[in-house]
Amino acid sequence: MGKIFLACLIVLASVCCKDKEKKGNETAGEGKTQYYQEQYRPQYHFSPEENWMNDPNGMVYHKGVYHFFYQYYPEDIVWGPMHWGHATSKDLIRWQHKPIALFPDAHGLIFSGSAVVDFANTSGFGTTENPPLVAIFTYHLMAGEKAGKTDFQTQGIAYSIDDGETWTKYDGNPVIGNDGIKDFRDPKVFWDTANYTWVMSLVAGDHLQIWNSNDLKSWSKLSEFGKDKGAHGGVWECPDLFKLNVAGTDEEKWILLISINPGAPNGGSGTQYFIGDFDGEKFTTEQKDIKWIDWGTDNYAGVTYNVLPEDYYGDKYDNDPKDERIFIGWMSNWTYARDTPTEKWRGATTVPRKLSLVKNGNDYELYNYPIEGLDKLLEKGDIKELQIAPNGSETITNDNFNQAEIRFTSSAKDFRLIFRNEAKDSLVLLMDSELGVFSLDRRHSGKTDFQQDFPSIQKMPVPELPEGEFEVRMVLDRSSIELFINEGQYVMTAQIFPKEIYTTFQIENDLDSDFLLKNFQVSKIRRTW
Ligand code: FRU
Repeated sequence: MGKIFLACLIVLASVCCKDKEKKGNETAGEGKTQYYQEQYRPQYHFSPEENWMNDPNGMVYHKGVYHFFYQYYPEDIVWGPMHWGHATSKDLIRWQHKPIALFPDAHGLIFSGSAVVDFANTSGFGTTENPPLVAIFTYHLMAGEKAGKTDFQTQGIAYSIDDGETWTKYDGNPVIGNDGIKDFRDPKVFWDTANYTWVMSLVAGDHLQIWNSNDLKSWSKLSEFGKDKGAHGGVWECPDLFKLNVAGTDEEKWILLISINPGAPNGGSGTQYFIGDFDGEKFTTEQKDIKWIDWGTDNYAGVTYNVLPEDYYGDKYDNDPKDERIFIGWMSNWTYARDTPTEKWRGATTVPRKLSLVKNGNDYELYNYPIEGLDKLLEKGDIKELQIAPNGSETITNDNFNQAEIRFTSSAKDFRLIFRNEAKDSLVLLMDSELGVFSLDRRHSGKTDFQQDFPSIQKMPVPELPEGEFEVRMVLDRSSIELFINEGQYVMTAQIFPKEIYTTFQIENDLDSDFLLKNFQVSKIRRTW
């Protein structure tokens, strides 16, 4: 009896010890394993550690580093007095958080804008050996807005002579005043190599203004565009003007991005674009139709990285984007941005996307597609061919579709793709050739009742899909899906808040003939936080 008692004590003690050890280990690793592990926390998209973010700002590449600033309110998870948050990356995939770059001051809150490398030190803030980074942004004076005035948005600048670590506001701010235009904001500045000057695109309510400057401090207005062009269901915001080569040719065209809120095709916020020409003074276009960069509800205020004159850095840095145009958007929509079900932080970006200009027949189209660097995060699955019988279906299971990429190529245009989880949530994607429409139905995708407009069916016309094979690619994170059809010709980005991780993916063939999916591949996407 005594022996048995002793043996029991020993067993008990060793179990306790083991338990302690386990707890000890868990606690030791806790800091790391718990970081960025909240239910809806993006695992490979950028999101702030805490609190509210909206627009990407000041995207500039400098000395091997991609700087990313963003509209940030550090005190709460709803929009508030805007600062510029800051993060840096070498590959646009892994981000390092930096201290807040710009704080509100007597001229107002710090709204959206851009940043440039002032490589010839035109501003005089640095030297040619140590060129300053200059940020150009909108000041929003709350007191002016509250007093019912219309001149409360002005443009200001700040500079950094330590490669973006610390920022000083220019003491001659604001550099552009306001004659009474209520919505006068979001300056995007670039170096115009042809005319050897800085060019700024700036929105003024329902149109674009183009300004120029030789020193980033004193600005002159050159022209206006757009009062009678494009979509006007809401205020114009976050312009971006840049040049692209038509893929595979030497032809150059200018692209103008204009975000608009409300008035997007699926409600609320969206980004339209114009393809035309810029002669150093005026932007003109013959475009008749309205074009959208993304048909989903959750890609707003996106702009592109400023690139330097082509051979500025030569071959010094192997991550130099050269003349690639990389776009990042805010993955939300003003209709419900303040209501989404997260607690510690709110807001994230889209994956970085490369823009390219494609001529289909007589029409130019802007494609956007994840940068190649995203592939580095993939743990690639086997490539399969799936053949689905007429009106049949195939179900694939995976322990986590909310951190995965699915790709396939197909020439069929009548299918339905459904993600499901054990909580009976379902996210339904439908390609319908008769309607010529692709739709994304998130009405039952998880938590949707936090705002009345969130549970919607989003529709995207797909009139110019190739006759033959095209690719369908989806990247999912904990709270988003980004869908790219035909390598970025048709794109939809949507937030989703599934109650549990999606674990099944069903492919339904809606035709009376076989549905052949080639190169079908499911890959895990590694987390970056
Ligand atoms: C776009 C926007 C900008 C403005 C900023 C304020 O989402 O409304 O026009 O500068 O957000 O945070």
